[in-house]
Amino acid sequence: MHKIAVIGGDGIGPEIITEGKKVLDAAAERLDFGIEWTDFDISSERYLKTGELVTDEDLKELRAFKTIYFGAIGDDRVKPGILEKGILLKIRFSFDQYINLRPIRLLDGVWTPLANKGPKDIDFLVVRENTEDFYVGIGSRFSGSQKITLEVVRDIYQAKFGLDIESDADELAYQIGVITREGAERVITYAFDAASTREQKLTSVDKANVLSDIYGLWRDVFETTARRYPDVHTEFSFVDAITMWFVKNPEWFDVVVTPNMFGDIITDLGAMIQGGLGLAPGGNINPRGTSMFEPIHGSAPKYKGLGVSNPMATIWAGSMLLDHIGEHAAADLVLKGIERAIRDGVVTKDMGGSAKTSDVGDYIASVLKS
Ligand code: IPM
Ligand code: MG
Repeated sequence: MHKIAVIGGDGIGPEIITEGKKVLDAAAERLDFGIEWTDFDISSERYLKTGELVTDEDLKELRAFKTIYFGAIGDDRVKPGILEKGILLKIRFSFDQYINLRPIRLLDGVWTPLANKGPKDIDFLVVRENTEDFYVGIGSRFSGSQKITLEVVRDIYQAKFGLDIESDADELAYQIGVITREGAERVITYAFDAASTREQKLTSVDKANVLSDIYGLWRDVFETTARRYPDVHTEFSFVDAITMWFVKNPEWFDVVVTPNMFGDIITDLGAMIQGGLGLAPGGNINPRGTSMFEPIHGSAPKYKGLGVSNPMATIWAGSMLLDHIGEHAAADLVLKGIERAIRDGVVTKDMGGSAKTSDVGDYIASVLKS
């Protein structure tokens, strides 16, 4: 029996999560294990009613689960940044989910905007650092002078910053990126391990030519870690260059490891070459704690309740969740189910079909059970 926490969230989140649960339940039934779902009301709706984002009580309860299945958050009625930072990033950071795993894989029968590229060319894994860099939340915007003390607290280290800023600019804003040796090392090691089980090829992304302190450290750690993996072929790519190569030569890549912010950007590009955001799943992983699986797309408020959104990214994220909890056969089955629905044309409008969100979930669930 696996206990899984569920956060449907906002917009289309609850609809796509319903389909994900349906499919995972079908896989569990077929392979004879159990799933017990526990729903959490963490959403913009609750925030607008009570002012609460993720409470300490929520965190305490969520901590009891090995995995969280997450839909999406985001709501036009709330100022940008509040829900993203207060819910999604809060969970990633609180549970120190330092690995953000994003497979970029073109499934059979899916259209890609890249000419003359097929499933054999587009199949790599992006390992995005998920707790540091410009995401640590150190920044400010002000006029005049300010003295600020700032703190970053992670399971593996703490860092305190004291800043004394004097300025006569009309307005000044800054944001600080932080990378630590420990933080880089753990995610880069994970990426080397992943590469060792695949094609023994790992590309590291940085911008060490300009942001030479922060990404200089990243590159150093990469080079040092590489010595422990003599069989893995390594390469560096500057982030601007990698966007080019993802488009022109996606077949060059096997595993790509990247600092947080560049990872955010290049995985939207990755999503597009694998058929769009409707087909891009992700996992926020802490190998020893609570991990969270989600589609990488947002809450698409304008499609809320219409039943037209593509649940495949969420179902695929469910497959990654199953893999994470050791149900490898079920994970495989779910991914095959998605491929079968694509082959049989049971796809939503974004993929050129006419199926509703629930038709896709129903179909995959029925394929799994048969
Ligand atoms: C993602 C999203 C998030 C991120 C936002 C919503 C905080 O874009 O998961 O890629 O930047 O990590
Ligand atoms: Mg993103």
